[in-house]
Amino acid sequence: MEQEEIEEIEEEYRGISRRQFVAGALLGAGAISLTAQRAFAQMLATGKTAKDIRGNGVPGGIVQISANENPLGASPRAIDAIMQHIFEINRYSFGSDLPFKLHAHHGITLGVDMSTLDFDDPRTFRALMEKNRVYMDAGSGPIVQLIGLLGVGNGTGECIESMPGYGQIARVFEGFKMAGQNTNVIRVPTTGDFNQDLNAMKAAITPKTTIIAITNPNNPTGTIVPYADLEKFVDSVPKNIIVFIDEAYIHFVREPGYKDAIQLATARDNVVVTRTFSKIYGLAGMRIGYAIASKPILDRMMLHQGFGQGMTVLSSHAASAALEDHDFVTQTIKVTNDGKDFLYGEFKKMGLKYTPSHSNFLIVDVGQDSRKIVTELRKRGVMVRSGWGYQGAGMNPLSNHIRISIGKPDELEVFMNEFKKVMGAAS
Ligand SMILES: Cc1ncc(COP(=O)(O)O)c(C=O)c1O
Repeated sequence: MEQEEIEEIEEEYRGISRRQFVAGALLGAGAISLTAQRAFAQMLATGKTAKDIRGNGVPGGIVQISANENPLGASPRAIDAIMQHIFEINRYSFGSDLPFKLHAHHGITLGVDMSTLDFDDPRTFRALMEKNRVYMDAGSGPIVQLIGLLGVGNGTGECIESMPGYGQIARVFEGFKMAGQNTNVIRVPTTGDFNQDLNAMKAAITPKTTIIAITNPNNPTGTIVPYADLEKFVDSVPKNIIVFIDEAYIHFVREPGYKDAIQLATARDNVVVTRTFSKIYGLAGMRIGYAIASKPILDRMMLHQGFGQGMTVLSSHAASAALEDHDFVTQTIKVTNDGKDFLYGEFKKMGLKYTPSHSNFLIVDVGQDSRKIVTELRKRGVMVRSGWGYQGAGMNPLSNHIRISIGKPDELEVFMNEFKKVMGAAS
């Protein structure tokens, strides 16, 4: 399209919107000004409400801070990549250099010179698979499920997971139990300040145990396990037990120099780590995640699902581009940390006990059945999560907690405005 044509259309568009605005204003002048006055008066009296919010990727008027998503939207580089590759979706293809990039990103040497590889030779694929340490799928959720299946084994396996914790491995085992298998779940309570209790998890091991799940940082508590403790733990458990470490939120750890567990996954035969593009890179809706694992574990995963089956061309390109979007990562971390500091300050003023978080969400004790607070907030357009759902094995440790995902500053401001009102009315 010629520049002139574009300008003409833009001018026409501006004209229409101006005309419509003027006509609308003349038609309903009284009504408009009354509504505006009322809205303004309400704002003066109560501060911003959800109606003033236009969140990324959700309809206007909703403060969506319940699912630990990225409130800034998606990595702009990922969006560019999706646009560039949109006309390739008629093809079966992994599409991008993502597997290679992931190895490089994590400092894992593939030990093959890419420039000399003949990709038409099937031996090339086999050679790469020998060295490969990455497994990709449509989000880390399906991968966690698959890892759960490895733990279930012949239907007699036992898993150990913290309570409160993400619980997906436990759910896989419970599903098999419901279907009549002889699987078993052990939920180990966290310490009083919601840290995962590795000593207690180790003490819980039985001859039946096949897998131990550690979410680090933990969801929903936001707490972390010190790396040295994790390494000691991994080295102290029997080698036939899979140690699964879910690092969905690892980018948000607020401790300088904190070491992730990737090295454990490549150096130990019984360790597997998962990561996701859903959080820090803002690609939850694209569905892409990956695992890094030792060869014995990877081989078993491949048997179930093959290589990258659940990944789409677009998600693969989006993830590959996002991995290099350092500005977006930095910006997301800043907004997250600022948001947490804001909430910490406000909760302190209200005298509420919160758990300092190494993630993009945090929990706060509301001193009463949290479902009531969540329902009231929802009526006001503010979506947060009740801790009530994190229960099992006769425990319900977060029944009085809500979990708040960190939103943009205006979203958190509205949350706080409404939260104070709801808490005031409830006390
Ligand atoms: C701890 C943890 N693991 C895994 C997932 C799954 O994420 P996804 O399937 O989007 O990669 C989530 C999602 O919220 C999570 O909180």
